[in-house]
Amino acid sequence: MAFFQLWNSDHGHVLEACKDSLKKLQLDYLDLYLVHFPVATKHTGVGTTSSAVDDEGVLEIDTTISLEATWHDMEDLVSKGLARSIGISNYDIFLTRDCLAYSKIKPAVNQIETHPYFQRESLVKFCKKHGVSVTAHTPLGGSAANTEWFGSVSCLDDDVLKGLAAKYKKTPAQIALRWGIQRDTVVIPKSSKVERLKENFEVSDFELTKEDMELIKGMDRKYRTNQPANFWGVDLYA
Ligand SMILES: NC(=O)c1ccc[n+]([C@@H]2O[C@H](COP(=O)([O-])OP(=O)(O)OC[C@H]3O[C@@H](n4cnc5c(N)ncnc54)[C@H](OP(=O)(O)O)[C@@H]3O)[C@@H](O)[C@H]2O)c1
Repeated sequence: MAFFQLWNSDHGHVLEACKDSLKKLQLDYLDLYLVHFPVATKHTGVGTTSSAVDDEGVLEIDTTISLEATWHDMEDLVSKGLARSIGISNYDIFLTRDCLAYSKIKPAVNQIETHPYFQRESLVKFCKKHGVSVTAHTPLGGSAANTEWFGSVSCLDDDVLKGLAAKYKKTPAQIALRWGIQRDTVVIPKSSKVERLKENFEVSDFELTKEDMELIKGMDRKYRTNQPANFWGVDLYA
């Protein structure tokens, strides 16, 4: 399955950006194409993934392109056969609700950061209730990578996950992923290591009890680990 995302600087260039990705991937269509962030930024050329900033280091946000216009361009990709399904990413309840109101084709997916330290139960429930599948990006809390980039604390070091890992003879990462699956989210962990890729797949041979699901529920810190404000000079989630 091929999924790809529309970068912020390409909101006014959806068709060209999608075609550019298809060319790079050597594909005729994408199974799923997502709006990466609910923000349009200064166009820097189709297919570039840079984020232009002003003299003060603040992201150049384009206020002339609405998310509705971007969404209708996404819908056109489906009509043209370039994307089978379309979705959104990093949309909160307000923006997801709005997208549902103006869409002719409903978003199939909302891809959001969620893990044991950032559970976002209300958003997950809202999406499910309205038929939008939730994909959990950063399902391991970003682990060492986000500690390095954003200075965040990793949920994989938490005693609760470590304790459950010992109980189920699994790793803390496998417990976090299994929890994500059991709450009906799609988990997309990333690893640069073959042994961890294998480890992250081995989560179908056990089930967390209701009590242990509750234990993990108690870990929520409402703690975002992926904070692009560090690069963009503006907190888009403020
Ligand atoms: N839509 C969005 O805005 C958005 C934002 C962020 C991420 N994403 C997507 O979400 C996916 C995952 O995101 P992510 O990489 O940021 O977060 P993640 O999967 O939660 O964490 C990746 C980190 O965890 C480590 N790791 C992987 N498996 C592990 C294991 N079994 N035990 C211990 N550590 C492990 C990796 O290190 P090693 O490489 O050393 O194993 C890496 O440091 C990616 O496909 C990414 O593109 C989407």
